[in-house]
Formats: sequence, structure tokens, C-alpha cells
Amino acid sequence: MTGQERQERKEGHEQPFAVDPWQVAEHGLDLTSLARAESVFALSNGHIGLRANLDEGEPHGLPGTYLNGVFELRPLPYGEGGYGYPESSQSVINVTNGKIVRLLVDDEPFDLRYGELLSHRRWLDFREGLLRRSAEWTSPAGRTIKVDSTRLVSLTQRAVAAVEYAVEAVDGPVRIVLQSELVANEQLPGGPEGDPRAAAVLEAPLLAEAHHSGGTKGVLVHRTRYSGIRVAAGMDHVIEGPERLDTVAESEADHSRITVTTVLHPGQRLRLVKFIAYGWSATRSLPAVRDQVEAALTAARYTGWDGLVAEQADFLKEFWDVSDVEIEGDVELQQAVRFAIFHVLQAGARSEERAIPAKGLTGPGYDGHSFWDTEAFVLPVLTYCLPTAVNQALRWRHTTLPLARDRAAQLGLAGAVFPWRTIRGEECSGYWPAGTAAFHIGADIAAAAARYVRATGDAEFEREYGLELLVETARMWRSLGHHDAAGRFRIEGVTGPDEYSAIADNNVYTNLMAQTNLRAAAEAAARHPREAARLGVDTEETAAWRDAAAAMFIPYDENLGVHPQADGFTDHQVWDFENTPPENFPLLLHYPYFDLYRKQVVKQADLVLAMQVRGDAFTDEQKARNFAYYERLTVRDSSLSACTQAVIAAEVGQLDLAYDYTAEAALMDLHDLGGNTRDGLHMASLAGACIALVAGFGGLRDHGEVLWFRPRLPTGIMRLGFSMMVRGQLLAVRIDHDETTYTLRRGEVIHLRHDGETVQVKAGRPVSVPTTNPPAQERCSQPPGREPARRQAQAGLSAGRITSGPDHLAAE
Ligand code: BGC
Repeated sequence: MTGQERQERKEGHEQPFAVDPWQVAEHGLDLTSLARAESVFALSNGHIGLRANLDEGEPHGLPGTYLNGVFELRPLPYGEGGYGYPESSQSVINVTNGKIVRLLVDDEPFDLRYGELLSHRRWLDFREGLLRRSAEWTSPAGRTIKVDSTRLVSLTQRAVAAVEYAVEAVDGPVRIVLQSELVANEQLPGGPEGDPRAAAVLEAPLLAEAHHSGGTKGVLVHRTRYSGIRVAAGMDHVIEGPERLDTVAESEADHSRITVTTVLHPGQRLRLVKFIAYGWSATRSLPAVRDQVEAALTAARYTGWDGLVAEQADFLKEFWDVSDVEIEGDVELQQAVRFAIFHVLQAGARSEERAIPAKGLTGPGYDGHSFWDTEAFVLPVLTYCLPTAVNQALRWRHTTLPLARDRAAQLGLAGAVFPWRTIRGEECSGYWPAGTAAFHIGADIAAAAARYVRATGDAEFEREYGLELLVETARMWRSLGHHDAAGRFRIEGVTGPDEYSAIADNNVYTNLMAQTNLRAAAEAAARHPREAARLGVDTEETAAWRDAAAAMFIPYDENLGVHPQADGFTDHQVWDFENTPPENFPLLLHYPYFDLYRKQVVKQADLVLAMQVRGDAFTDEQKARNFAYYERLTVRDSSLSACTQAVIAAEVGQLDLAYDYTAEAALMDLHDLGGNTRDGLHMASLAGACIALVAGFGGLRDHGEVLWFRPRLPTGIMRLGFSMMVRGQLLAVRIDHDETTYTLRRGEVIHLRHDGETVQVKAGRPVSVPTTNPPAQERCSQPPGREPARRQAQAGLSAGRITSGPDHLAAE
């Protein structure tokens, strides 16, 4: 790379996606990075997920069609086993591909590896929720055609996806054959070797059960071999073209095909609308699942292509009206945050009592598992814009309580122990130091439930689901920890968020979150005494929770004046950052865990996250000192870190640093900063970008009854605006450098805190108050080579730019 190229790359000029505030667009086609674009352009509604594979199926980076909750079991072999190790794991599988529309031009397949591609463009507009594609191609034999296709995964009809495909002859006459297909057990390319993060590739996971075709329709029914999940996929078509059209329907075990043949003269078009539907169940019979798919197809056909497109736009209009985050002064960040919100919406919109995976349904990374990422990063965002999705996601956790209770019993604990990673609810982590030992996931779930109830006032949810989640997790904490001789409540042998430390005592994040969990459980039980009694809760038990919470031990290093992230952490040897070459990041792929565990090196925000979610437990001075201390140690080998560092950087007054971290979180996938966007998008980082803006620059803290704001802006952002739905009211916040305006867009009156002062906002009476920017400070330093890329405002230009810093972060 020349110096100029390097500079351009840093400035984002080489990025494949054009900057636009409302869409992501790709001009041309880079066959070497197809998989990355397949993730970026993935469509999903949380129920169905389609990677953006080309209509014609090939070439592809990684074909992917996912159904939430459809997985296969695979053994987890151990060299040396141990008590309580999970015996099998669950892997998301690539199900029947319904996206395929192959095209033959005279007798040559439309395949972009051959012939001449005159133009190719794909774009995804966040207000439309449609992936559009437009291509002009000359076949090796010299025939030129235009192809326009549009794909959607319906946000309103959860079992439905659809494609509109049109081919036009530019010269000719030309014989056109379209083959619209359902393909099961597609061949998958092998994953990157030796990288534990990539999903295990499962060959031919579907056993054929039934197939049929006729007219314009085809259906395939399969079952997974070991997990026993029945999957039906169906397609139906509306075809428009010249008068002479032939249509043939065929099907066999793994394949169904509708073929349309015609001759097009120059300027003539053949248009195909393909409705695709999926149904799946571990319990329902074959006819039941098949009929469900047929019914969904009928409904989609009834709505029609234009109807589906209109429903999609209406849904998104309503969504953006309450969820948009507006940034003035940095168009690229504006695009990135809308991209982020759009994908978070896609991941959660219709997940309906199923998990939201770490990658959503955009790729097979992490085997399709969901982690604490959901409750700690994704749900805090959805709570204020799409609370029904949060309700559903937490109800999914609730359905897994029987499994979590069994797991607790197996571990000799009371209450419920939720899995570190899972699809259906069983623990799938074979590496318990950074899996089961991360007990904090229980408190993360409890906190998400409590936040949802505070934000919505949904008492019915609390009675039916929230209370039990709180009670069972509180029971777990009470049995996991103990009062020492001095009466302090200690929680030992746990792993906090930072996965470069494990099995530590009194992790501050864990203890503070457990404290909140114990208190919240006692309060919820007091609000719902009857339901609590039904769960066996008595006053003795709630008193024990309160006592444990009150006596919670939080270690503090008096000498250094900082909180160790766990007992003894600040005494450990500091990692030799100076002699760690840049190519050795992420460290977990180059150094043994035993060495990482015994040194001061932080993979991701841990103590810093504690300061965000439990800001009340730290003084301002402690926050500033702690932040500076952990900045020097944090390498951000996880994409779950930058957003949290942004929030606290903003709180302690390091606004430009906060800006850099915000951009990193937001651009994680658009710029492929971790180098693994091909495996799927980083949902927590995308949600984290919104958190960075709203909790960082907006200063939102929502752990009390009233929302707190402490707005402040970096120089690169001229204005920031966002809205939040709180108990059915819609609050809009607009932050300028000199003043902040709160407007109640729906509702009567709301009380909030601005810079510590109570503010009352009434309908029709916006309140403007001064924005107080903290005094400028010396920028904290990070480990050498791990500084975030600097983002600087371009005077007079609308886009912030990256001007220095690592090209690539290489993180998980
Ligand atoms: C992080 C975890 C996270 C997981 C899935 C890991 O790299 O350390 O905190 O839950 O990725 O995103």
C-alpha cells in the first residue's frame, strides 16, 4: 500500500459503501468481499434472516438463510471432561434457501464471474426496509440484459419474505429462462480454519420429509436429524411478461423449482414476484407445519408485492418516528447509527419468545448463540423504541427458567443459572471459566426486566414474568455468595465482563449488579405479594436478599485510589504491551489464557461498565481516576467495549475520546473493524453505538425512577437529537452546544433530571436549558497501538473523518 492509499483507507475513501444518511449503497461488486456485504445487507425480522446472497445463488461468500430457533445439536467433546460440563452444543443451521432466482440468457447462466458486468448497484434504504439491486450485464456471447431485483423480509407478516425480479432485454431477441428455487442442504464453503469464533459448518443438516409442486408453487418439508425440528419452506409466484410464457413446476427431496421461459425483444421485461414462507416447530405435525406455510403464502399473495412494500414502509415510518437518532455535523456517523438502529430493529422486531442472537440472524458467527449481549446492550436500546420486542425477548428467557433451574441444581445452587451462550436455553459453553462462571448474566437479565417495567409500567409483565426472573436470579446470588466473618457479602470465583480475567473474587461489576438484582427482587416481591408467595418467597427470604445487598462487598485499592475490577487485580503484573506486536491482537488467539488471566490486561470494559450501570456507586473523582486507570489496560479485543468506554469518557469530560469510541462502535461493521463482519453483524456494538450517543453525549442514566440527562457534545457533532418512549409518552431530546431542549411529543407531563436539576416538561411546552460542557482535559492514554482512530470534525464539511489510528482493530 502506498502512503496515499493508506491515508485514503484511514479516511474511509476505500470503504465499499457510499456515505448517505438514510441508506447503505454499494456500487460495483467486489467478488473478494462478498461475505462482508452479505452481512451488511442482510434482511431479517427477528424470525427469518436472509443473508444478502446474490439472487442467482453464486458466486457467494457464505450462503445463509436462518430461522430463529432452528438449530442442530452437536457433541462437545472434551479431552479431559469434568462434572457439569455440557455434553452438547447447539448450532444455527443454514435452512432451505428460498432466495434463489437463476437466470439463463440464451444458453448462458447469468453469473457475474463471466461476461461483462456493465454496472452493478445494491442499496438498502432504512426507511423502505428493502434490499434493491440493479445490474446490467453482457453475456460471454454478447447479449446485454438489465436485471432489477428487490428483496424484503416482512416486518408485518413474520413468516414471509418476497423477491421482485425483473429482467429486460437490451438487445436481442433473447431467450430467457428463470428458475426460481427452494434448495435444501446447500453446499457451504469451509470456515476459516483454527478460528473458534466462526460457526461450525454443519453439512447437510436437513432430512427430507415431503415435497410437492404444481402451478406456480413449491413446498419442501425437512426435519433436523438430532434436534428434531421440522422446517417447511414454500414459494409461490406471480409472473408477468410477453404473451408466450411457459411455466414448469418440479420438486424432489431437497429441491423445488418453478421454471419460466420466454423470448424477450429489446425493451421487453419479464417480471417475477416470488413469495417465500417458512414454518418450523419441534412439536407440530408435518401437515400442521406445511399448512402453516401454505397459509402464509396465501396471505402474502393476497397482500401482493405492492401491499408488502407498503406495509414495510408504514411499519418503518412509525418506527423511525420514535427511534431516530439525528446527528448534525457528521454524516458518516449519522448513516452508521441509522444502520445500527435498523439492524437492531431487524434482530428484535419479531423474535417473539425466541432469543436474539449476538449476530442477530445475519450470519453463523458464534454458532447463532445469544449471550448477555442481548440484555446488556440490545434490550436497553429497544426498551425506549420498541418495548414489545423487549417484552418478547424477556418472555423467551422466562420460558427457559426450567432449564436454568436444572442448571442451578446441577451446580449446587439455588434459583436459576442462565446459560452463557445458547439457542434454546441449555448451556452451550464448553469453556466454563469464560462461560458458566460469568454468572453476571443472571443480573443482566434481571436488570433488563426491571428497566422494561420502569420504562413501560407494564405491571402485568412484572407479575407474570419479571417477578419470577428477579426472584430466581436473586436466589442464585444469595446461594452463590456468603457473608464473611465481618458480615460483608462476598461473591467469589466468578468471571466478570472482562474475559481476560476469570474466576476472580468480588468482581465489582458482578457484585454491584447482584446488589441491584437482590434489591429489585425484594421490591418486586413487595409489590406483588400474592404472586411472590406462590413462588415460595417469604419475608425471611426477602430480608436475606436485602441484607446481602446492604452488605455487598466492593473492593477498593486505597493506595492507588481506584477500584480493582476484582479482588487483587491491581496487584497483578501489568501486561507487556510494549512488546506485543500489533498482529498479536486479539490476544486470545495468540496467548494462553493462563497468562492473560494473571496479568493486568482488559479485553473489554468491565469496571468501566460498572460505572455506567451503577454510576450511583462511585464518586465523580473515582470515576475519573478509574477511567484513566483502565484506559491504559483495555485492549478492546471485544466489540462490546468501545461503546461503554464512550459513555464514561463523555461522563468524565473526555468528549473527543468519547466521540472516537462512538464512531468505532458505530462503524464496527460498515468498516469491518473487527475483520469478521463476514460471519455476521455485531449486534451489541451496533446497539452500543446508540448507547454511546444517548447515554454518552445525552448523559442518560436510567437506573432510578426518573430519567437523568447530562448532555454535552464533542466538537465534531453540532447537534444531537433522539426520542424515547417512556410509559406511553414520547420525549424528544435535542442537544445543541449551548442548550438542550426537551419536548413531550406525546403525553401530558414528564419529570426528568437535567444536570442534577428536576425539570418538568408538559405537552406543547418545550423546555430549553443550558448545555454544560465540562472543562477540557488531558486525553487518557491506551495501550500502545490500541488507541481508537481519531475522528475529527471537518470544518464546513458534513462528514467527520478518521485521521489517524489503527486501520484495523481485529476484535471479536
Ligand atoms: C465477548 C463477550 C460476548 C461475546 C459475544 C465475546 O468476545 O467477550 O462479552 O458476549 O463475545 O458477543
